[in-house]
Amino acid sequence: MKKILVLNGSPKNDNSSTMWVTKAFVEGLLSTGKYEVEYVNLSSLNIKPCTGCLSCWGRTAGECVIKTDDIPSFKAKVEECDIFIESFPLFFFGMPGTMKVFTDRMLSMMNTYRGQNAPENGESFHGIRNPKPERKFVVISSCAYTESKNIYEPLRMQYDYICGKGKYTFIGVPQLKTLIDLKNEKKISRYLSKFTEAGIEFANNGCLSSETEELLLKAPFTESGYKVFLDNFWHEEEEKGKLIKK
Ligand SMILES: Cc1cc2nc3c(=O)[nH]c(=O)nc-3n(C[C@H](O)[C@H](O)[C@H](O)COP(=O)(O)O)c2cc1C
Repeated sequence: MKKILVLNGSPKNDNSSTMWVTKAFVEGLLSTGKYEVEYVNLSSLNIKPCTGCLSCWGRTAGECVIKTDDIPSFKAKVEECDIFIESFPLFFFGMPGTMKVFTDRMLSMMNTYRGQNAPENGESFHGIRNPKPERKFVVISSCAYTESKNIYEPLRMQYDYICGKGKYTFIGVPQLKTLIDLKNEKKISRYLSKFTEAGIEFANNGCLSSETEELLLKAPFTESGYKVFLDNFWHEEEEKGKLIKK
């Protein structure tokens, strides 16, 4: 059996909206009978921040000097798996701080920076140390805003520079929490089914077509409809006394 490793980077752990989509995508992968999955909540891991010593690029050659937290055992899981999925909400147009702390600690998996220029040819700045070409990397991030293409640009650029353009699969999911909060089961299950289909496509082809990526990025609500939902939501919160009016 091939292994899928999912890192849930939402501080909401099992209440994460992003995980609804991630689980739908994984369901598609599992339906092919080729995979087994392990889910890990980032908040359950003890992760110390990178100290910036750069030993992993020098004298310890790929090994981090911090040995007393959960990174060594988690890194072994990442190295062993066939599909690594990071699932997290968009926070201020990037990854949540806890995900960034985790990502910094993955420096030991990257090759050293030797003064090369920005990767216009689609390569990453670094490249992975001891790459396993068949291992796939998927990033799934949900957000609240509507204009998903612009909203995700900073995050995409960060991953392009880390991994290289086209070296990972990105799934952006706009307006997700509202869709889930409205509890329209039919609409939710119709919406999630496209991620399950995408999981099957990924299992069969090892990637998603650009048409599928576009389809997944499509927001569930029209812009005007969404504004009404949000206005109503914040109005109700005010009515319930949950917001303090200035
Ligand atoms: C600190 C913070 C920053 C956020 N920043 C953004 C943002 O820049 N753009 C956006 O569309 N949504 C933003 N959101 C909304 C979340 O991305 C969105 O609600 C997400 O679907 C939550 O996913 P989760 O339930 O998996 O944690 C932010 C939320 C928080 C708490």
